[in-house]
Amino acid sequence: MSHLEAIRKPVNNEVLTFEKHFRDAMKSKIPLLNIVTNYLLRRKGKQIRPLFVFLTAGLAGGITESTYNAASLIELLHTASLVHDDVVDESFERRGFFSINSLWKSKVSVLLGDYLLAKGLLLSVEQEEHELLRLVSVAVKDMSEGELLQMQKSRKLNINKEEYLNIIRMKTASLLAACAACGAWSSGKDPDLTEKFRLFGEKVGMAFQIKDDLFDYQKKSLTGKPAGNDIKEKKFTLPLIYALENCKNSERRHIIRTIRNHNNNTRKVQEVIEFATNNNGLEYSEGQMIKYKNEALEILAQFPENEYNIALRELVNYVVDRKK
Ligand code: IPE
Ligand code: IPE
Ligand code: MG
Ligand code: MG
Repeated sequence: MSHLEAIRKPVNNEVLTFEKHFRDAMKSKIPLLNIVTNYLLRRKGKQIRPLFVFLTAGLAGGITESTYNAASLIELLHTASLVHDDVVDESFERRGFFSINSLWKSKVSVLLGDYLLAKGLLLSVEQEEHELLRLVSVAVKDMSEGELLQMQKSRKLNINKEEYLNIIRMKTASLLAACAACGAWSSGKDPDLTEKFRLFGEKVGMAFQIKDDLFDYQKKSLTGKPAGNDIKEKKFTLPLIYALENCKNSERRHIIRTIRNHNNNTRKVQEVIEFATNNNGLEYSEGQMIKYKNEALEILAQFPENEYNIALRELVNYVVDRKK
């Protein structure tokens, strides 16, 4: 049994039911759309977001019909964001296989992403899930703003730690925050409890993206996504930002020039990876990731010790220990 399967135990039946809802939510009368969505469904991801929704609902008071709506809504929007993200990042690999844009071109990806987003909106409206829709819409807005801010920064090749943290809070932590907030809301509609869970999800999301950014520095990608793609896209993430803030001026100028002029040269990208590694960028980032993990665990510790809490603790540990 994989680690995630073990964590899923307390909500295994719920997750199986969710998968059917999710598949149904993607169906269309247009054959081309069904070909592409079937391709997507065959290569499902880790599905940690629905897992967060069910486990937080369980801990907050109990899983309800709304919890299923929240899980489907969020996984639909997450999938849409990945399909769009691979166009934006010009990335040709996702979940160990070709990305949608590499098989069907960007036009299809853009429209498919919009379609998935619209299906999420419809689902919420039809089920009259006004508050869930609001919580998730805030996240989707933040995600777009975060990606655009990141783009602006990568054009200028100047970004500091604070700006990086701001970007990842918007582009990634916001959706994990929405998972936990929606989970809590779906169980009892208590605003204070929802806010507490939202903050928990945000901390987890910060750790999650720092981990994802560390994967880009691996020698060989094990994630099903290409390694070194962030540097190729002139995306400055924490390991590199830290290293640049802690080296000689001449070295900094050299590395920035390398990224500006040779970002498509695999050997030069490797040189940048080594620079960040040799200047303790990876250790520093791991330290920051652990800090967010511990803050998330502290919030969990305020809740009763039950099977949901134990599984959530395991899931938070999984986020920072995972191999993909
Ligand atoms: C990828 O998320 C996007 C990021 C926020 C880094 P996941 O790593 O959860 O993607 P899947 O769904 O498991 O493929
Ligand atoms: C993740 O950004 C944020 C979203 C997908 C919205 P990344 O560009 O780092 O994600 P991956 O690494 O491609 O999954
Ligand atoms: Mg990407
Ligand atoms: Mg990434």
